[in-house]
Amino acid sequence: MIQASSAAMTVGDRLRQSPSVHTGVASILGELRSRSAEIRDIRAATPGLREPYEAAIARAGELRGRGLYYPYIGSGMGNGALVELADGSVKWDMICGIGVHFFGHCDTDLIEAALFASIEDVVKHGNLQTNAAAFQFADALVTEASRESRLRHCFLSTGGALANENALKICYQKHAPASRVMVFKDCFMGRTNTMAQLGDGPAYRQGLPLNVSVDYVPFYDEIAAERMGQKRFIDMVVAHVASLIERYPRQHACFVFELLQGEGGFNTAPREFFVALMDVCKAGGIAIWDDEIQTFGRLDRMFAYETLDLGDYIDVLSLGKMSHACATLFTPEYNPKSGLLSGTFTGETVSFAVGTRVIERLRDSDAYGADGRHARHHRHFVEQVRALAARHPDWFPAPKSALLQTGAKDIVGGRGGMMRFTPFGGEKDRVLKACHACYDEGVIVFYCGHDPYHLRMLPPLGVMREEDWPRVFEVVERGLARIA
Ligand SMILES: Cc1ncc(COP(=O)(O)O)c(C=O)c1O
Repeated sequence: MIQASSAAMTVGDRLRQSPSVHTGVASILGELRSRSAEIRDIRAATPGLREPYEAAIARAGELRGRGLYYPYIGSGMGNGALVELADGSVKWDMICGIGVHFFGHCDTDLIEAALFASIEDVVKHGNLQTNAAAFQFADALVTEASRESRLRHCFLSTGGALANENALKICYQKHAPASRVMVFKDCFMGRTNTMAQLGDGPAYRQGLPLNVSVDYVPFYDEIAAERMGQKRFIDMVVAHVASLIERYPRQHACFVFELLQGEGGFNTAPREFFVALMDVCKAGGIAIWDDEIQTFGRLDRMFAYETLDLGDYIDVLSLGKMSHACATLFTPEYNPKSGLLSGTFTGETVSFAVGTRVIERLRDSDAYGADGRHARHHRHFVEQVRALAARHPDWFPAPKSALLQTGAKDIVGGRGGMMRFTPFGGEKDRVLKACHACYDEGVIVFYCGHDPYHLRMLPPLGVMREEDWPRVFEVVERGLARIA
């Protein structure tokens, strides 16, 4: 951002360029590379580490006030899609901190960025005083986003729910006094008090006083749309939105679009569906807010709106997870008044430096396009699920959910690096047990959806090898066999 010439360098520049710092970093990375290379396949716990590990897991549960979902404490080591736990066991990591570690474990390029970032004078950046890394990160994001949208500004934050809080405040202020929010059925937006009220998950707001006015809109439903015709389905949802606007005239500040639903079940929808709804929003003066916290980076374009050519519609966008630092992007028309957004921390140099490298690598690699890396991996995943279903058709009955005959048509779905499949008819109990059985066998996956429930993967496609898919599915098959 601030280019130093050798004639005009700060002391900080001289430290970063110091040969001894470079030699030190190179030596750490060399050691890391050779240790990481020792990890080549999954393995069981090291006998002498089992007991202390179990004690550490029990203590972690006590500290949290409830047991961990998986008995997982990492050792700090791994190799690509393989991660070592503190008991010496190694597993395939197909969920990556719910989508954060897209470049896997022990990626030396990201660790190099982190090492250089860690020798700055302070760890945290704030709104009042900040070093260059925060703006380099924001610049990288806005440069990418502005190619196909009107987004030009960026406010940084330390978590996805906070990025969403900022997005909501921007929409409220622009459309004051409108105070209602439209969201989709099955959406997830994070766990602050407000986001827990917007998200379509009653369990996430148990006991919270409800003080946000939310209207739920049906998401695209493949089966229903096929049955009644796509156009009639879309017209029905548009009519629903129109009736909400008629009921609460000029009271909606925004409509939140998750263009590929994450927690809700990796649900997709065609462009026509979003266009019809976004046109209603534009006509009604309702902000279009695109929540890309889960989708960012991992589909077959960097932004989900690019995959559907919707960039012109977007007023506000939130992103996080694989970006390591979180952000709210907005157009000049939505630039809020001073005082609305601030906070002591915006993030850490390490997060911004790593996030910037993540964006550069996504941009400069073969990640995107119809035959890009993410699309190719998705095809391998689909192939593995189909082969598994062909070997075990009884593991893949039609969903017996309450919403039988609606929802997702296929046992396998998602897009790019968002992958889901639906064993055991999507029954909650068996899908959750299957996740645990897979974990015990050596592959970490998670679930998503609500009736039907799916097995979900957010794998480290930035580094995963295509030839690893059969190895991963061998373990998945052993896990599912324990439940079947
Ligand atoms: C679509 C979406 N929005 C918001 C969030 C909340 O992000 P965070 O957990 O970083 O607060 C998530 C997290 O899963 C998400 O998937």
